[in-house]
Amino acid sequence: MSTVRKLTDWGELERLIDSELGDSDEVKVDETALRAHLLSRVRGQDEIVNDLAKLVSLQFARKSRDKPVCNIMMLGPTGTGKTEMAKALAEYLFDDEKAMLRFDCSELTGEHSKDRLVGMPAGYVGYEGGGQLTRPVMSNPKRVILFDEVEKAYKGVFDLFLQLLGEGRLTEQGSGKVVDFTSCVFVFTSNAQFEKLATIKKETKNYHEMLNAMKSHLADSQVFRPELLGRVDRLYVFDALKKEVVAEIALMKIEKLAKSYSIELDFVSPRLIIQALEANHRISKFGVRELERIIFDLFAPGFAAAKQKQLKRLRLDLNPDGSMVFKA
Ligand SMILES: Nc1ncnc2c1ncn2[C@@H]1O[C@H](COP(=O)(O)OP(=O)(O)OP(=O)(O)O)[C@@H](O)[C@H]1O
Ligand SMILES: [Mg+2]
Repeated sequence: MSTVRKLTDWGELERLIDSELGDSDEVKVDETALRAHLLSRVRGQDEIVNDLAKLVSLQFARKSRDKPVCNIMMLGPTGTGKTEMAKALAEYLFDDEKAMLRFDCSELTGEHSKDRLVGMPAGYVGYEGGGQLTRPVMSNPKRVILFDEVEKAYKGVFDLFLQLLGEGRLTEQGSGKVVDFTSCVFVFTSNAQFEKLATIKKETKNYHEMLNAMKSHLADSQVFRPELLGRVDRLYVFDALKKEVVAEIALMKIEKLAKSYSIELDFVSPRLIIQALEANHRISKFGVRELERIIFDLFAPGFAAAKQKQLKRLRLDLNPDGSMVFKA
């Protein structure tokens, strides 16, 4: 080792050079770490997680792109983790799930929806403000952009999608500024045709055959234009959640709630989890939407009381009479 290097911790300095002075535009994606991160938030969709982690890491490894990082369509029943997956991806890639821009296409059905996204034409009131899609990407080009219920978007908005997904560029109407989307990940979600798609998924073993069959079905049933489907890199069909998966999600949510009171859990009685699931089932037959609130109502009072007593670790159990007991 050269003598001056002894003056410092050279290994640490090299690491800092990489992390602090590296090319700040570059996003390095480690497939294994991304997979682990997605799995920590999304359960019961492992096949999709594996493929997504691989696709995203391969795309980010490219030096340049002439289209967005990837264009993904997520289909399937409500409350199965589509939005959660997009958030988890944004959180991993750009350190913050708020790096995600989200648009509800059921609000983009009118003639002027396009103006909302890419700004008003020059001369119209408010045109200097630009568009709700273009401006955030100008200020931070690295984003996950989510369009929910995409089949509901106005025709003119679909034309924008075609341009975005194909070229990764859009021009703001009023300002004429060209906005670059080639560091963005696009996620489109829809519940359309999910039953039929689930059948195709189950019945077709070969991946490419399956993809073709799904795209044909979506085009034939006029849910999406074939040009749009042609620009989508992946079409993921989310599975309905099995009871065991819902139980695991409940446990995740209980743990997260405990942590928010600075409490670690050593044990949660299975019968308590069943109580939460039964309460959830009574309120919503659609899986997990209400689960977070139910778990809050069931467990938060106990956690708050434990925090008051400065307890740091707990076992959540049931008394013989069925009432809840939190033991230190
Ligand atoms: N597979 C899953 N793994 C972990 N949590 C999940 C999963 N599915 C749903 N959840 C939980 O349920 C909530 C709602 O799920 P999410 O918003 O991802 O549903 P969605 O598939 O986007 O539904 P929709 O089609 O109605 O938009 C999430 O915030 C998350 O807490
Ligand atoms: Mg959603």
